[in-house]
Amino acid sequence: MCTATLTGVRSACSRTHTGPAEARDAESWGAVGGLEKSLAFHLSGHILHSVHWQNMTGPKDGGGEPLVQDGVGELADAITESFGSFAGFKAQLSKAAATTQGSGWGVLAYEPLSGRLIVEQVYDHQGNVGQGSTPVLVFDAWEHAFYLQYRNQKVDFIEAMWRVINWQDVARRYAAAKERGDSLLLNL
Ligand SMILES: [Fe+2]
Repeated sequence: MCTATLTGVRSACSRTHTGPAEARDAESWGAVGGLEKSLAFHLSGHILHSVHWQNMTGPKDGGGEPLVQDGVGELADAITESFGSFAGFKAQLSKAAATTQGSGWGVLAYEPLSGRLIVEQVYDHQGNVGQGSTPVLVFDAWEHAFYLQYRNQKVDFIEAMWRVINWQDVARRYAAAKERGDSLLLNL
């Protein structure tokens, strides 16, 4: 959990802070664009961080790629089907994370319209995202370790993240997202 973004979500939603409630009460909509942007930023930042922490494990148990013998064959097949190969997927997600803008992310998401996995490049926590896609593996391209431990060497930082991925967690998220694949409710 990222305390800063969670505080931001509460602030953006809460009746106890200056925000949407005051705007509604006063029918004063001059700031609605900024309020909505703030809500999207903090809400998305909190969600992506919450997934991010669970996507990782120690280097002894994590990293590599999803394999049938580790019980994550369905995820491995979906990656191959969606990207052609694991190497192609890894290259695309790494590049998306390395070149994103602002408080940016590289995201592997389940896209319910096509039923496939896609890579999304998210900037400022909330930008550039297709409606309804569910993040299953997220790379925080601006986490504190990037500045402190890796001295702004983003490629090294991203390569290190690949070494601690918890594929069991990613596979669980993929399976759950696929099972709830009607989340867009397009055919009601
Ligand atoms: Fe972060």
